[in-house]
Amino acid sequence: MLVDDKIYLGTSKRPEYLTLKYANRHGLVTGATGTGKTVTLQILAEGFSRAGVPVFAADIKGDLSGIAMEGTPQDFIAKRCETIGFTDFAYGATPTIFWDLFGKQGHPVRTTVSEMGPLLLARMLQLNDTQEGVLNIAFKLADDEGLLLLDLKDLRALLVAVQERAKEVSVKYGNVSTASIGAIQRALLVLEQQGGENFFGERALEISDLMRTTTDGKGYVSVLAADELMRSPRLYAVFLLWLLSELFEQLPEVGDPDKPKLVFFFDEAHLLFDEAPKALIDKVEQVVRLVRSKGVGVYFVTQNPADVPESVLAQLGNRIQHALRAYTPREQKAVRVAAESFRPNPEFSTEEVITQLGTGEALVSVLEEKGIPSMVGRTLIRPPSSRIGPVTPEERRTLVAGSPVGGLYDEIIDRESAFEVLAESAKRKQAADEQVRLDEERAKQERMSQPTARRSSRQTPAEAAMNSLARTVANRLGNALVRGILGSLSSRR
Ligand SMILES: Nc1ncnc2c1ncn2[C@@H]1O[C@H](COP(=O)(O)OP(=O)(O)O)[C@@H](O)[C@H]1O
Ligand SMILES: [Mg+2]
Repeated sequence: MLVDDKIYLGTSKRPEYLTLKYANRHGLVTGATGTGKTVTLQILAEGFSRAGVPVFAADIKGDLSGIAMEGTPQDFIAKRCETIGFTDFAYGATPTIFWDLFGKQGHPVRTTVSEMGPLLLARMLQLNDTQEGVLNIAFKLADDEGLLLLDLKDLRALLVAVQERAKEVSVKYGNVSTASIGAIQRALLVLEQQGGENFFGERALEISDLMRTTTDGKGYVSVLAADELMRSPRLYAVFLLWLLSELFEQLPEVGDPDKPKLVFFFDEAHLLFDEAPKALIDKVEQVVRLVRSKGVGVYFVTQNPADVPESVLAQLGNRIQHALRAYTPREQKAVRVAAESFRPNPEFSTEEVITQLGTGEALVSVLEEKGIPSMVGRTLIRPPSSRIGPVTPEERRTLVAGSPVGGLYDEIIDRESAFEVLAESAKRKQAADEQVRLDEERAKQERMSQPTARRSSRQTPAEAAMNSLARTVANRLGNALVRGILGSLSSRR
């Protein structure tokens, strides 16, 4: 069953394969809880890894982590292999890197406030339009003046500076009100309480570390621990959007490659779109559409296809639909809608079969020759070669200790950034003021003894402050920054 240019998914009336060439045309895995979505994600990730394609996936319940371990032989697995004619099945582990925003269950993942940008940050902070406008101004100011925003401390310092310079800033960029700044500060506090400060800082994640392959040519699967993260769904959603936007901004155009450069799984994808404003959905749609030519395949995993906006749904070419319930009229309607998205098979009614599928069974339609969707097939999904279920904490520790990114991200770096620069500039201004005062005092004394004193060549307080600002600017990033569709930086320093 195993071939080189396709991923074996399972068997309907025929073996069903996901063609690697079309794997960047994105995908969708849907179904009610307990119907086999995670296992399907697991076999897809295994398949990509085997084909040399690195994978990123969030692990919502911890049960995807078992992908890192060889599966334990079990009767139901042997039986399923027999049923589907999977004679070349073998147990085996998949090369895995564990990540964790909180740094407990894997290597910490961080980004900087500068890199995330105002759009996603505003979403993370649940700001209203006015507040978002003020945040935009603060970023504009920081970008223009080259103030590095690494962590939340920097953002706070920046907001204080904006408030202090409110008059000047309002003239140059637009109105900033104290009330809005106060509201943003409070939202930041909430984010910190949710553990958001863990996420901002350095060393920021390098996309290349998500694109690693082993020496024998297998793709690493990056598994993000998301159980704790799921308690702050907004943080989770924005983090994944940021990652997608980074991939989009940083990877080069490759057109349609033989196989994807990276595959990205969005589990609990409904969280991305819950209460998301139309403008954000449009941007996500745009990024999903464009990221394809960078060789990135995006696979949404969620309960119901209706969880994904129509415009995004239309771009998901490869579909695996597990069972749905249809008790209420609303559920029945959802089943109908899900069924209508498949190219029909004259042998059965898609709508009927969706409610009858067993565990680990799914309706599969994938892109084939010329990118045309295959006729839907009622498919028994293959069992994974790796373990179904979680790794133990012990196993996880061992894997993290031996990981190829070991030591790269594990310590927090706190280099000079806006917080330090602004604090330093305030200190300098104070010192300069003090110097001026002393000079004036001295001059006064000199005048008293020597009536023909020259004008002091010392700086006025205003000049001193200007010069101190000029020194601050010496810590600039360099050029003005360019931001992409989702507001993250489009080119790195
Ligand atoms: N393809 C499969 N082969 C064998 N067993 C499966 C398969 N898919 C699912 N199962 C069984 O069903 C259980 C639930 O599947 P899971 O993927 O966790 O469901 P979901 O993610 O939709 O809640 C798994 O623990 C496993 O025992
Ligand atoms: Mg699951």
